[in-house]
Amino acid sequence: MSSTPVSAAQPRERLLVTEGWRFHRGDAPDAGDSLSYAALRPWVLPTGTDLINAGVAAPERPAGEEPGARVSFAQPGFDDSGWRRLDLPHDWGIEGPFSQDRPGDTGKLPWHGVGWYRRSLPIDAADAGRRIFLDVDGAMAYSAVWLNGRFVGGWPFGYTSYRLDLTPYVNFGGTNVLAVRLDNPDDSSRWYPGSGLYRNVWLVKTAPVHVAQWGTYITTPLVSADEAVVKVNVRVQNHTSDLVAVALTTAIHELDAGDAIGAKPVATADRIEFEMDPKRDTEAMRTHLLRVRSPRLWDLETPHRYVAITTVEQGRKVVDRVETRFGVRTIRYDAKDGFFLNGRKVMIQGVCMHHDLGALGAAINVRALERQIEILQSMGCNAIRTSHNPPAPELLELCDRMGMLVMDEAFDAWRRGKKKIPGTDASDGPMRFLDYARLFDDWHERDTRALVRRDRNHPSVVMWSIGNEVGELHYNDGWHLAARLAGIMREEDRTRPVTIGSNSRTAPYFGFQTGLDLIGFNYKPDQYVPFHAAHPDIPVYGSETASTISSRGEYFFPVSEDKMQGQADFHVSSYDLYAPRWALVADDEFKGIDENPHVFGEFVWTGFDYLGEPTPYNADVTNLLNYSDPKQREQAAKELAELGKIRVPSRSSYFGIIDLAGFPKDRFYLYQARWRPDLPMAHILPHWNWPGREGELTPVHVYTSGDEAELFVNGKSQGRKKRGAYQYRFRWDDVVYQPGEVKVVTWKGGQPWAEKSVKTTGPAARLLVAPDRATIRGDGLDLAFITVTVADRDGQLVPRSKNALTFTVSGPGEIVATDNGDPTSFESFQAPQRKAFNGLALVIVRAKRGATGAITVRATADGLTAGETTITAR
Ligand code: GAL
Repeated sequence: MSSTPVSAAQPRERLLVTEGWRFHRGDAPDAGDSLSYAALRPWVLPTGTDLINAGVAAPERPAGEEPGARVSFAQPGFDDSGWRRLDLPHDWGIEGPFSQDRPGDTGKLPWHGVGWYRRSLPIDAADAGRRIFLDVDGAMAYSAVWLNGRFVGGWPFGYTSYRLDLTPYVNFGGTNVLAVRLDNPDDSSRWYPGSGLYRNVWLVKTAPVHVAQWGTYITTPLVSADEAVVKVNVRVQNHTSDLVAVALTTAIHELDAGDAIGAKPVATADRIEFEMDPKRDTEAMRTHLLRVRSPRLWDLETPHRYVAITTVEQGRKVVDRVETRFGVRTIRYDAKDGFFLNGRKVMIQGVCMHHDLGALGAAINVRALERQIEILQSMGCNAIRTSHNPPAPELLELCDRMGMLVMDEAFDAWRRGKKKIPGTDASDGPMRFLDYARLFDDWHERDTRALVRRDRNHPSVVMWSIGNEVGELHYNDGWHLAARLAGIMREEDRTRPVTIGSNSRTAPYFGFQTGLDLIGFNYKPDQYVPFHAAHPDIPVYGSETASTISSRGEYFFPVSEDKMQGQADFHVSSYDLYAPRWALVADDEFKGIDENPHVFGEFVWTGFDYLGEPTPYNADVTNLLNYSDPKQREQAAKELAELGKIRVPSRSSYFGIIDLAGFPKDRFYLYQARWRPDLPMAHILPHWNWPGREGELTPVHVYTSGDEAELFVNGKSQGRKKRGAYQYRFRWDDVVYQPGEVKVVTWKGGQPWAEKSVKTTGPAARLLVAPDRATIRGDGLDLAFITVTVADRDGQLVPRSKNALTFTVSGPGEIVATDNGDPTSFESFQAPQRKAFNGLALVIVRAKRGATGAITVRATADGLTAGETTITAR
């Protein structure tokens, strides 16, 4: 797609430039310190208030003295033929290898350091006279960009989408060589950030008179069943030195789930004619008001969308045309009654999500995001908090299309950062931090505006968040900054409330409540009552909840009620009773919400496991941990004696309701039971393969949407129970293990509801291989997620099996990554072999670009009957 020939006849072109890049890990040997952020800073800060980085054409920035003028990798003539060829999106960190010596908090992966990308751009002689922009959806981090050896600009914050104006440096009709340098300072993130050009990159060509970057802003000030008033603000830029007469039109069409645009407009606006000043780079804003009769509302079950098509004419010639997708819906937050979507009360059943896609790393992939949302929706989840940074634009497109709500978040740190340079003291100010704190003063306004301007047309976005647990929450004057950031957001959008995730019990009483519309508490259900009493007009919710930890398929005995217990073998027991010091088990948050109907919902930490932050195994330890295998314990004791510490292998989180590979943990069913009360379901834990535990206490817990349950072990009733107040699980803690079958029968309102049984399995005998979809697109981007199950003869998953598996593909497909959800595995995500983790593994396969036909994926393991599946590429 990237090199499709372009024709200047189209008023605007937006081309993906993701294919055929050259990549080099490490800096140019002749760069020295010349490209450090300190050196780049005066050059990358855009002048003026516009978000476009217009480059260094200004006379005070002479060629030859600009950054990179003497750096080989930036020069157009540099021979990069020895560099690796690859396509974007690309995350060099995920390629590994894992290293025991790197911090678990950022995934033990080599995402740090410098990397360079180069590529030539398709720009014709016929493009002369047009504006040529580079739109980067996100580059990790501190990006710096050169075109034809001239420094264009850059953007330090790796999560912000930005635009550079390439026009002054383009060789129309000649070769145009783009060079991009990224730099990831060590210790600059609290989680795995990924690295490189990990989101899409676009080349945008427009006429000199054109709609500005994110230049349309659509709101629906009046919505009723009869009609919606749609307000379309359009910002037009004039890059000529002429007085130009401009005409604007906008028409609204329906947009179907497949993104097809309805043939007939449902509303058209009156044409607006005006003149623009004969001054370069002037901007004008005009507003269209339209009426859509009987609007089809955007809602969770029926996420109807519209598209506004805006054209710019100059002297009767269409010089620009932009499509803006939007939805018609109303939102309202009430401090007493909660959140209302289109007048209907909706409980926020949300999860926090980091941006990585597990084995795919941070490299954005639409199908991987879509699969995450599908799995979350099957649990009854209806909202995502983009913790703690601007998401990929594609996530919001998907949430619009699939009916998910979004809390769109800007920052994890302001001036008081969280990642401190060792040995620095407070007087060093923001410079003693390695995270966003060092950028805050220069960039917070631009990063905040960029987030809101980019995302404010998405119906899925229902609140803006200025930050998460920022250090300022713990200082008396912190709320000034909160008010400032909220003010910037409101300048860009007045239709959504502004909020924060607060880990302070006091800040929302002493200042922070004044500047914000909604207060979110992280892990503080104890604040729901006092906060409401003190501020009965401010809606409150759980911006981050639970942080329960578990490893899929691991259970340790005896089952302890102490939330800090449950750890062994670098895993956490999946009885869902364990959480770190500051956190809670899910049941306790449920109670907090149920006791307080004014609380409008929660965002659980987290939906999926993510790379990094492997609490409770964040760092090497100096005490002997629990091991179920005495040999492992002996080995650990030896390591402790020799090294003075035990080296912890954990590199991804235990917080997920769903593991890193996308396999549900037990907790998935705890949330499903609550969030989908009408779905008849029951889930039993633990598994029932406990050789050696015969006769021992083996508690059985059941998650069900029913209100009554009876448990049977080998046909013998263990008692029938009714759900009590604030009781979210059924427990039979006195069950004595005997191999065979545990079965639960449930009722709801006295009627039979759902049944479930778990049996002791036979030994592992064969591999079952099942794809998530039978057909994928052969575009080199679409993915099949294939689950491999280690099963007994009867096809039952064999718990605790860790067989070494090998995967092969025949036909026009290839393995992109493999995973198993084990947070302690150092196996390469790209390797075509991997151990099963508690009976499961995942193979991610894509069809080669342009491929059609059958792709067969086969899994083999010693001593087991191989399994395979065939999918079709179309
Ligand atoms: C919160 C923080 C999250 C994550 C979580 C783990 O305090 O906001 O980013 O670190 O703790 O429990």
